[in-house]
Amino acid sequence: MASMTSAKPRILSGMRPTGKLHLGNLVGALENWVQLQQRYESFHIVADWHTLTTDYEHCREIPGNTFEMVTDWLACGIDPELSPIFVQSHIKQHAELHLLFSMLVTQARLERNPTLKEQVRDLSLEARLSYGHVGYPVLQAADILMYKGEFVPVGEDQVPHIELAREIARKFNMLYSPKKPVFPEPAPMLTQFPRFPGTDGNRMAKSLGNTLLISDRPDTLRAKIKMAVTDPLKVRRGDPGRPDICLIFTYHNRFNVAEVPEIRAGCESGALGCVECKARCADRIIEHLAPIHEKRAHYEKHPQDVHDIIAQGDGRAREEAERTMAEVHEAIGF
Ligand code: TRP
Repeated sequence: MASMTSAKPRILSGMRPTGKLHLGNLVGALENWVQLQQRYESFHIVADWHTLTTDYEHCREIPGNTFEMVTDWLACGIDPELSPIFVQSHIKQHAELHLLFSMLVTQARLERNPTLKEQVRDLSLEARLSYGHVGYPVLQAADILMYKGEFVPVGEDQVPHIELAREIARKFNMLYSPKKPVFPEPAPMLTQFPRFPGTDGNRMAKSLGNTLLISDRPDTLRAKIKMAVTDPLKVRRGDPGRPDICLIFTYHNRFNVAEVPEIRAGCESGALGCVECKARCADRIIEHLAPIHEKRAHYEKHPQDVHDIIAQGDGRAREEAERTMAEVHEAIGF
């Protein structure tokens, strides 16, 4: 009965399984999760049903992508003893709670969601927008509330979904169990990291083909960084550069803090050329990833360990889900 006896507040963290993760995922989410698991009781959900919203034609890739993503989570320091890792589709109660919640939300409310509107625009979904896609924030509310998550570490784009989960929790409690609320009202915990650029200067994203993967080998990282764009006005060594618009400088800021003043001075004066600057950047990133790669190699050699960890996490999640659904059934009276 961990949740009853634990004094730590409960966090629910989740990602869609998109396969191998990149440095944007590491800096923007994973490193934060690793820190949080000490002070909070963290549950980590692999939101595989969520990938169907946009990728329902590619179901067969999902198990492999789940394996790769969980391997990255473990390599980066998610401790499955402290923080269960489980798969959404393995816990069927999510589907039932989603159904019950779906009656408590209007269609108009879902269509007002700014994150959904952005997805529709960015992916030109207008005529192809599915019923399941419009409703996925309700499924997310079920993911969070099933485990009575009090905090959800997310980026800006997910805040509207957490707000919806709060509304659903409030409505359910008021309607069915006003004297003994079943659900807490979860709050977003904003991941405070400015957007992390990919090697073309845009936001790092798999769909943009500009990623540095956590699992990339050193030679791959060096090659990708060598090709990355820099200040277009700095063509050769001797030309003064503008570190504040250079993505390589953003990487130094994150992975090479000690040398930042020197790099800035060298870039601005022109004494430091991009080739050397990039090589030093690659070295630091490779150093940072070395212990992660070592752990990853272990799991690559022992894939059964990853499957066992997920099975254990599923077990802990299922226990919680059964307990919550018993309360839900009592509240609704059938
Ligand atoms: N919707 C989230 C995303 O697209 C993933 C997600 C699903 C999630 N369920 C969750 C995140 C529960 C936090 C908690 O990134």
